[in-house]
Amino acid sequence: MRRIGLMGGSFNPIHLAHVRLAREALASGRVDEVIFLPTGNPPHKGLELADKLARYDMVCLAIAGQQNLSVSRAEIDREGVIYTVDTLRALRQSMPDLQFFYLIGTDTLLQLGTWRQIDTVITLCGFLVYMRPGEDEPLAKSCAAQWQARGASIEWMQAKPWDVSSTEIRRRLREGLPVEGLLAPNVEQYIREHALYGARAEESSAGTDGMKREKMLYRLKKDLDAQRYQHTLGVEETARQMALVFGEDAQKAALAGLLHDCAKCLTLSQMVKAAKEVPLDPVMKESKALMHAVAGMCVAKNVYGVDDAQVLSAIRWHTTGHAGMTNLEKIIYLADMIEPNRKPYPGLEQIRALCWKNLDEAMHTALRMSLEHVVQQGKTLHPDTLAALLDYEHADNIQQ
Ligand SMILES: [Fe+2]
Ligand SMILES: [Fe+2]
Repeated sequence: MRRIGLMGGSFNPIHLAHVRLAREALASGRVDEVIFLPTGNPPHKGLELADKLARYDMVCLAIAGQQNLSVSRAEIDREGVIYTVDTLRALRQSMPDLQFFYLIGTDTLLQLGTWRQIDTVITLCGFLVYMRPGEDEPLAKSCAAQWQARGASIEWMQAKPWDVSSTEIRRRLREGLPVEGLLAPNVEQYIREHALYGARAEESSAGTDGMKREKMLYRLKKDLDAQRYQHTLGVEETARQMALVFGEDAQKAALAGLLHDCAKCLTLSQMVKAAKEVPLDPVMKESKALMHAVAGMCVAKNVYGVDDAQVLSAIRWHTTGHAGMTNLEKIIYLADMIEPNRKPYPGLEQIRALCWKNLDEAMHTALRMSLEHVVQQGKTLHPDTLAALLDYEHADNIQQ
């Protein structure tokens, strides 16, 4: 039976740690899918609570295009006071063949007794409890044991510390402080366009390195065909999410994702010309498929004004890889392969699943697939790709 994680909350606004938690739940293997359940408007809505439709829109934007994440209107379409027990009944009725797990923190676990009709709730769903580092595990486990004795199904997962809060984000927006790295850029844009939480329209902070993101998008749209442009946005978002999961800089990952193919639609001679400052090997010079990465690094630097060396090198190595790759480089290499607009290819789902669990296993599998692919085509692997693969093969041999 398919297992569905439910993530309730006011999402006022939804931020990157919410989405990361949902991803961690998927990566734990305990659930196959996560549904966000934004709350409706309470009878007396505080000034700081954005309207339910705006909060719903923001959740849609934050998870757009991401596999196995979705949002339900179950609570926002109802009026008055809504209790979890009613929502669960409605969900069970509309999706009878699924098994639901409410995602809760240990704080909520300790207060489970205050939930309305809790004895009914535990017959309608199980609980997936996320433990953060430093939390009182024995206390949580003994509390869980009491609920299990009453028939509740309780499972556990590990989660990273909660380093972002909606309250803090609202304060920063109100005071005109930057919120980069806390919200998805499209959510920030929505907040500013709708002047939520006292935010002003003009202070978009996305894309602070070099050009502003809007300008980059304008230029990319001009330089790329429609399909490549969509792919670029998919890699931007996937890279951002992967960076969050693996504790890397999400803004750098998003920027490298956005620009990784910025030179893709140039001709080969234009690519070689754009990359004149970089020593090029003969194999590289003959292949658009490889060359656009080196050219992309130069265009990102010289046209888009990016000067961050980590971002530039992630763009540089996204086609070949190399021995001793950094995590950011691995993220861009992999996000490029798995972003949601990718047409299905053999092994895609396997790589996709590994990408949210273990970067090195995902890289190793991806590099082996490249090898198989070029062998099938009667070609040879680029020396840098071979070196990257041998890195992993050697590590395997040492372990064995
Ligand atoms: Fe590319
Ligand atoms: Fe790409």
